Amino acid sequence: MPGEEASNDGRPGVRGRPGLVALPPLSLYVHVPWCVHKCPYCDFNSHERTGEVPEAEYLKALEADLEQAVPDVWGRPISTVFFGGGTPSLLSAEAVDRMITLFRAYLNLPPGVEITLEANPGTAEAGRFQGYAQAGVNRISLGIQSFDDAKLKRLGRIHDADQARAAIAMAQKAVDRVNLDLMFALPNQTLEQCEGDVREALTYGTGHLSLYHLTLEPNTVFAKFPPRVPDDDLSAAMQDRVAELAESAGFERYEVSAYAQPGQACQHNLNYWQFGDYLGLGPGAHSKISFQHRITRQVRARMPDSWMRLAGQRDGSHIVERRELNHDDLGFEFMLNALRLKQGVEGGLFIERTGLSLLSLLPKMRHAAERGLLEPGLERICATPQGWRFLNELQMEFLAD
Ligand SMILES: C[S@@+](CC[C@H](N)C(=O)[O-])C[C@H]1O[C@@H](n2cnc3c(N)ncnc32)[C@H](O)[C@@H]1O
Ligand code: SF4
Repeated sequence: MPGEEASNDGRPGVRGRPGLVALPPLSLYVHVPWCVHKCPYCDFNSHERTGEVPEAEYLKALEADLEQAVPDVWGRPISTVFFGGGTPSLLSAEAVDRMITLFRAYLNLPPGVEITLEANPGTAEAGRFQGYAQAGVNRISLGIQSFDDAKLKRLGRIHDADQARAAIAMAQKAVDRVNLDLMFALPNQTLEQCEGDVREALTYGTGHLSLYHLTLEPNTVFAKFPPRVPDDDLSAAMQDRVAELAESAGFERYEVSAYAQPGQACQHNLNYWQFGDYLGLGPGAHSKISFQHRITRQVRARMPDSWMRLAGQRDGSHIVERRELNHDDLGFEFMLNALRLKQGVEGGLFIERTGLSLLSLLPKMRHAAERGLLEPGLERICATPQGWRFLNELQMEFLAD
């Protein structure tokens, strides 16, 4: 290939570019951007929709987006699919069926791969959940947040606790794998209330729980009008208690906020944390796609209407950012993800996924190990318990100089 030359710094591949021995697993993410109501804490690319969701227009744009993306991933098997939002459960079962059929037509989607759909309990209907399952969805992730009506109201949720309970029953009837999302450190929450939420979540016997510390994100209603939330000591106590309760019920905390029964870890998210590839379709979706000698990122137009219009033009203008990751990006982004995992990753995975030698990270790794934040040695890249607790600090160690 023109321009290729042997690396002069011990790195495989082209000078200044990684050379990958094998391409990583490839996931597919589909963003559904609409919600019934925008929650005051949410900074996702989600947009309140008063009328009907424009399903036909969305599907048409999605097909155009997919068609234009296919050459970048041609023939590669898709290892997981995730419908995220926003609120994918606003879509009809027919729409989800149509999308999965499209993926089977355009992509190499092997049978039996994990296909997750995020659902808001306020939009749950038994018939629709069954329809999603018939279309191929085999995992439902429910945004429960809390089982306390007053807290749900304060969070601006469109459902109450009984609707959340009913949605869990519907999801469990439709699919074998159900995740419950809960948040803690909620406005005016006590340790007992936090425990009560987790204890109830544990009674349903789902294989997966996502237990998030509520964060006050910039540019949200909660950032503008901050509620009174537990102080650092109380929220740290909540984090410890939440983890203890889940672990004593047989869950492994395999990532900062993710807990799974044996064999129930979310394969889609694991692929992100292990620095796998992902093709993101839909408004604002991000992609990371590797080629033998470059690793690229893409971002799609954020606003639903712009994305639908631009994708339909079929000139690539719906992709508003494309760039190649450089050495510094790769080192930092790999660590940002891998260090979230309790067990970390094997050192060799860094070479496999970035095409770089671990030597490039050695000074930073040594420094983090000296501070007691990273386990020493190159065999595994893994945070110490202290590093995991202060993950931001550890991740900052790997920022470019
Ligand atoms: C896209 S939402 C899930 C599906 C659906 N939109 C819903 O809310 O029911 C993903 C999850 O992220 C969590 N989340 C969103 N904003 C958060 C924040 N500011 N702090 C902590 N967790 C947050 C919530 O638990 C939420 O269920
Ligand atoms: S329903 Fe989910 S995605 Fe929509 S605004 Fe609320 S938290 Fe965000």
